[in-house]
Amino acid sequence: MRIASIELPNALFVAPMAGVTDRPFRMLCKRLGAGYAVSEMVTSRRDLWDSLKTSRRADHVGEPAPIAVQIAGVDPQEMADAARHNIDRGAQIIDINMGCPAKKVCNKWAGSALMQDEVLAIAIVQAVVAACAPRGVPVTLKMRSGWCATERNALSLARAAQDSGVAMVAVHGRTREQGYGGHAEYDTVAAVKAALHIPVVANGDIATPEQAREVLRATGADALMIGRAAQGRPWIFREIAHFLATGAHLPAPATRQVQAWLTEHLHAHYALYGERTGVRSARKHIGWAVKALPGGQDFRDRMNRLDDCRSQVQAVTDYFDELADRHLLLPQAQPISAANDAHQPESDAIAA
Ligand SMILES: Cc1cc2nc3c(=O)[nH]c(=O)nc-3n(C[C@H](O)[C@H](O)[C@H](O)COP(=O)(O)O)c2cc1C
Repeated sequence: MRIASIELPNALFVAPMAGVTDRPFRMLCKRLGAGYAVSEMVTSRRDLWDSLKTSRRADHVGEPAPIAVQIAGVDPQEMADAARHNIDRGAQIIDINMGCPAKKVCNKWAGSALMQDEVLAIAIVQAVVAACAPRGVPVTLKMRSGWCATERNALSLARAAQDSGVAMVAVHGRTREQGYGGHAEYDTVAAVKAALHIPVVANGDIATPEQAREVLRATGADALMIGRAAQGRPWIFREIAHFLATGAHLPAPATRQVQAWLTEHLHAHYALYGERTGVRSARKHIGWAVKALPGGQDFRDRMNRLDDCRSQVQAVTDYFDELADRHLLLPQAQPISAANDAHQPESDAIAA
């Protein structure tokens, strides 16, 4: 799988998720089998480039290549400037966000709202491609299947994007109107794949190896993008890779191994965010990791009341020590369907 001339280790992608796919999480997913990960969206607004939030989102220290940054905004020139700015800071691929359903991205109607205005959407794509091409940086586009059930315009937008020089398109099989409700459909993804000669990535509700195989079959897509099912379960990428390669399931990971991954993740998280913010934002990752485990809900409630790194790590250690005494392999490691899961984007995460 390639994006322009950039060869990827495999065709399993981490979906960009604001408030989730920061550098520590992306690096963990890449370590555990993901071939590619895009940053959380970074605002195109120049006045916010130096904000703490945007700088953290644009932090790629130590991350394995390729470094891919998603930008969001509504003004073509501003988006082109944002692309150049992020290339200067290490981006090797620029992704344009036309997939996020939040009402307001950067205080304007950006993200998937842009799909409603194809002229503006393509003006943005052309401006960003013009900014990136001289630097040899490919531009990719993430979109939904359309604006609403009667306006599934992913195909025409994808064609126009390809004609404008986009190197890859990812399609989440829901309309903007659907938010995260209902189920993803893959017919639109299949139609986009059939019409384009650039790589097409299928996204939406892929939570098990079997679903991954089925979505590949139904769409013919070049790659799969997985979001919510990787929350608390970043080893899903190697499970899917193994299943696609062999037709067999990997055993559940050892409880001690999961403990080690989570503990390392926490330390990387605190290093990026500092104690106060780090402890708070780590709660969701810990919560996702334990929610399907014995006593996980009670533990989560107790853990959410802890306010410092030391107590949080100690609580995780105590919980997993006890779990590992009873279970060599992670118990109840059944994936929870992404479609039925309540992991909606947090309003805080969406704000630029
Ligand atoms: C918490 C959260 C934050 C998200 N943030 C972004 C984002 O910043 N940019 C984007 O293009 N999509 C964003 N999405 C959408 C995901 O990339 C993906 O398209 C969607 O979750 C469907 O894939 P899934 O069913 O595998 O989760 C977000 C989704 C979630 C759940």
